[in-house]
This record gives sequence, structure tokens and C-alpha cells, in this order.
Amino acid sequence: AKVLLVNGPNLNLLGRREPGLYGSDNLDTLVENARQLAQQSGLAFDHIQSNAEYQLIDAIHSTDAQFIIINPAAFTHTSVALRDAILGVNIPLIEVHISNVHAREPFRSHSYFSDKAQGVICGLGIQGYEFAMQAAIKHIKAK
Ligand code: DQA
Repeated sequence: AKVLLVNGPNLNLLGRREPGLYGSDNLDTLVENARQLAQQSGLAFDHIQSNAEYQLIDAIHSTDAQFIIINPAAFTHTSVALRDAILGVNIPLIEVHISNVHAREPFRSHSYFSDKAQGVICGLGIQGYEFAMQAAIKHIKAK
């Protein structure tokens, strides 16, 4: 079984992008932590980060994962296309945000993903990805 981690636009800048909001750890650290958690549980793991909507959509279309953990970043608030990609493949998902999107500009409170997610984690920094991985592993093992 496999978990696919999807990170949206600007998350490649993690560590140097608004560190007060997003912390000082970079994307590689985050991804390697998640990969380790998957491997410890005997699960395969894939990751994509892209700044291009179509690349995220294509990765979702072509994945053989049983579970998706996604931080759609700014596409959270804009992308019907990415939402439809996930609905199209019918793979369960957890939505993660590093910052507390509800404590920021009002436009960040709306998500095109939350009503379709098993759960939503926000505001806990990159630790949120660890919690999401734990939940995904539990979900897969329960099957
Ligand atoms: C984010 C929150 C979004 O509003 C923002 O556009 C991001 C990152 C987060 O992880 O906190 O790029 O998804």
C-alpha cells in the first residue's frame, strides 16, 4: 500500500518563506520525515510538490496510492480543478495546512477540499504532516 503526499505552490520555499508563519524547516526535512514514517510501517511513499496546477492534477490521476495527504497551499482557496481531480480518483484524503488558516485573512477560511476530506489539520506547523501520516497509516492498516 502507498501514501501520496501532495504539496502545492510555494511550499518549495518552506524554511525561508515567512518563517514566522511557516517555520524554519524546509520541504526536504518534512518529506523525509513523512517517508520515514511510511517506511517504518512497511508502506510505500510518493511525494510531489509543484507550483503548477496541472502537474498536481496529473500526479493525482496517475497515482497508485491508497491514501492522499495534501496541502494544496494557495490552490486550497481557488482550485475547483484540483478538487475535481481528487473526486475523480476517489482516494481518501487528509488536508493539511502548516499555518492556522482560520486566524489569517478571511479568504483563507474557505477550502475547496475540506468537505471531502476525512480530516483537516491546520495550525500545528509541519508536525501536522506527521499526524496526518499516522492517521493514514492507521486507516490503511485497518483495511
Ligand atoms: C497554507 C495556507 C494557505 O492559505 C497558503 O496559501 C499556503 C500555505 C499552509 O500550509 O498554511 O501557501 O496551505
